[in-house]
Amino acid sequence: MEQASAQQPGPPITTVWPKLAQYLSVVDALAAAQASKAWHHAVTDASPWAPRRIDGAKAAVAACEAAAAAARATANVPHKYRRSRLMDLEDRPAYRNFVSGEVGALSLARILGACSLKGKFVDLGSGTGRPLVYAATLGSFAEVIGLELLDGYVRSSRETLAHVECKWSIHQRDFVSDEGAAVWRDADVVFAASTVFDEAQMARIAARAVALKRGAWVVTLDVALPSPHFVVEWLIKCPDCSWGAARAFVQRRV
Ligand SMILES: C[S@@+](CC[C@H](N)C(=O)[O-])C[C@H]1O[C@@H](n2cnc3c(N)ncnc32)[C@H](O)[C@@H]1O
Repeated sequence: MEQASAQQPGPPITTVWPKLAQYLSVVDALAAAQASKAWHHAVTDASPWAPRRIDGAKAAVAACEAAAAAARATANVPHKYRRSRLMDLEDRPAYRNFVSGEVGALSLARILGACSLKGKFVDLGSGTGRPLVYAATLGSFAEVIGLELLDGYVRSSRETLAHVECKWSIHQRDFVSDEGAAVWRDADVVFAASTVFDEAQMARIAARAVALKRGAWVVTLDVALPSPHFVVEWLIKCPDCSWGAARAFVQRRV
C-alpha cells in the first residue's frame, strides 16, 4: 500500500508552478512561429528607400518642428506644455504605457517598406508626431492619423503636423476606448511603439484590432500582438529609436 501511494502522480508541475506554464506557453508560441512559413522571411535590414530619401524624411521633421517653434514664438505662446493627464488615469496605474520615446526615420522607412504605403496610416500613441511626418513623407498615404492622450504631445504634434501637406488629424483619445477604437477600425496600417506597453494594454489593442479588415497591417515594437487573428509577416530591425534598438513585428490581419 505504501509503495502504491508513493507512485501516485502528484499534480502536474505546471499547476504547482504557474510561471512554468506561462514560460512553456511562450516557448511553444515561439516554436510555432519559427516553424511557420511567415517567420522564414521575417528578418530584414532592407529599406526600399535610398539613404537620401530617409534623410529627406528626417529633414521634413526638423523643418516642421522649426516652423512650429517659429509660429509659437511669433504668437508668443509659451511652449512649456502641461503633461498632467496621467492624473486622469487613476483607474489605469500603468504609467509605463506613457513613457516617452520616438521612433527614428530609418526604422519607420524599413517598416513601411514591408507594409502598404496607401490608405490610412494610424499611430497609436502618436507622441510628438514624428512617425506621422515620416509616413506622410515616405509613403503615399491618403491620410495619417494619431491618437494621443497627453496634452503636451497633442498640442505640439498638431503644431508640427500643420506643416505637412498630407491630410492629417490628431485625436486626443484613449486608443482602446470605444471612441478611440472607432478612429482606427478602418485603417490600412496601424503602428504602435509598444516597447514599454504592459500586457493589459497589448491585450486591449489586440481585442480592438480584430475589427480591422483582412489584410490590414499592425506593427508593434518588441512585443507581438497577442492575437490568433494576426500572423507575423516580417520582423524588422529598428536601430534608431530614441531609447536604442527595437524589433518591429509586422503583422497582418488574417
Ligand atoms: C513610446 S511613445 C511613442 C510616440 C510615437 N509613436 C513615436 O514613435 O515617436 C508612446 C505614446 O503612447 C501614448 N499612449 C500610451 N497609452 C495610450 C492610450 N491608451 N491612448 C493614447 N495614447 C497613449 C503615450 O502618451 C506616448 O506618447
